[in-house]
Amino acid sequence: MGILKFVATGKALPKKIVTNDDISKIVDTSDEWIETRTGIKKRYFCEEESCNSLAIEAAKEAINRALQKDSEFDVLKIGLIIVATTSGNYAFPSTACMVGKALGLKGSVMAYDLSAACSGFMYALQNAKALLNEMDKKYALIIGSEELSKLLDFNDRTTCVLFGDGAAATLVKLEDREGISYISSFSDGNDEDLVCEGVGEENSSIKMKGQAVFKFAVKAIKQSVDEVLLKTGLDMEDIDYVVCHQANARIIDFVKKTYEGHEEKFYQNVGEYANTSAASIGLALDDLFESGKLKKGMKIVCVGFGAGLTWSAGVFEI
Ligand code: UT7
Repeated sequence: MGILKFVATGKALPKKIVTNDDISKIVDTSDEWIETRTGIKKRYFCEEESCNSLAIEAAKEAINRALQKDSEFDVLKIGLIIVATTSGNYAFPSTACMVGKALGLKGSVMAYDLSAACSGFMYALQNAKALLNEMDKKYALIIGSEELSKLLDFNDRTTCVLFGDGAAATLVKLEDREGISYISSFSDGNDEDLVCEGVGEENSSIKMKGQAVFKFAVKAIKQSVDEVLLKTGLDMEDIDYVVCHQANARIIDFVKKTYEGHEEKFYQNVGEYANTSAASIGLALDDLFESGKLKKGMKIVCVGFGAGLTWSAGVFEI
């Protein structure tokens, strides 16, 4: 079936940085509460930017880097653009179609948005792997982009402190060679614990039962990691990094204790961006690649979990 190779990554963040102290001027909260309970130090909020503009900027950065790294790559070789998002500019056309237009790919690319909340990036990777098998073109642009600030209720301190805006893009290529890229995704219909009303609803905003989602997240990460390791015949000794959706440092701290001796492999950057939903795994991958921490031959596990409820995990060889 071929394996997915990460060719290049890119990211885009709004200019406006919002610290915990800034948020505490809007709702009754504090830097101390937010950082202790979540690990979050700051987030970015769109002003001039939008979900679509961030997606385009991140895509362009990934493409520019790919052009430098991969002599075979050409933008016209991209057959597929998937944007994982729940906060696109329009109900339609999709953000992915507007990315295609911005890249000059009018008429030559399949493009669609994918709604799986914070699992969206992983769902998109699994979609890409399956679809590229069907296609002549072997490159796909996978983007997670969110403008969650427009879905926040700034009267609800239990949610508005948790989220941020941002986008990350990963250019992937389906290669016909030995290697590992295994992804599996699941869902469990639930519109009680984490929900945001949709198009046409007045004041639609994120509503969450924090503790219920916390418990689900811990269980979903553990089950997903164990399942993908079992399916690929690997164990934690073989894995260099575990990149979880960055919702809350405490969730990751809780899970990593169950992998004694491997705690350092669980990457965390939620402090920098807060919870950017579908963008968070891509942002983590971009940080890991750009800091030189991810090297050829390494194996990583990525895990998404979120509204739906959805969860999805994969093992990849870099
Ligand atoms: O990508 C989507 C996935 N979402 C998540 O991963 C979120 C998962 N859940 C969580 O991360 C945590 O449940 C939260 C961070 C949302 C909340 O932390 P918690 O430790 O579960 O707090 P809690 O809901 O039990 O609330 C404890 C107290 C309450 O006050 P009382 O009733 O004890 O007096 C809350 O009213 O903290 C209060 N509180 C706050 N205080 C200051 C809730 N939010 C805030 C706040 N600032 N922002």
